[in-house]
Amino acid sequence: MAAVSVASYAILGMQAAMLLTMLYGVHLARARRRMRRHGAVMTGLAVLNVATVAAVMAPTFYGLDPAPGPSSPSIILVHHYLGLMALAITAVVAFPWALRGANEGNCPGAGRRGRLIMRATFAIWVASLLLGIGAFFSL
Ligand code: HEM
Repeated sequence: MAAVSVASYAILGMQAAMLLTMLYGVHLARARRRMRRHGAVMTGLAVLNVATVAAVMAPTFYGLDPAPGPSSPSIILVHHYLGLMALAITAVVAFPWALRGANEGNCPGAGRRGRLIMRATFAIWVASLLLGIGAFFSL
């Protein structure tokens, strides 16, 4: 394993904590039907995710030596692209809702289509988090 910075260890712990918080957020929606609180938890996580990617993950990825090329089928690259997808989809799902006042009435999860969007967002995000944890141990 290559030399790993303290920041990377901190991000690893944070990713694990985010995964657990995300499961709590899903519990709020599914079992307790607390949609506003669910939205707030998920939006907070999405903001934290953007911050950790910008502060540590992107600089680490682009500073890797040798930099993983697009033809390298490494776990880091899959994590990288899934992570970018997760950033985009969570931003599209959560931020407009928060900017419109975070009301229960305009939840992006409402209806059959909303539930599908929720499940897809969750699946991509969890996959990218798990691969990120895997990528850490593959460095
Ligand atoms: C951006 C990150 C988010 C993720 C990963 C996420 C994930 C999920 C998941 C996994 C479910 C359970 C779906 C099921 O029943 O199987 C759910 C339900 C739901 N979410 Fe989200 N959510 C997010 C953001 C939001 C936001 C910002 C709101 C706004 C209030 C919201 C509103 C809802 C609603 C209303 C449901 C209930 C759907 C239903 O059972 O009919 N979600 N979400």
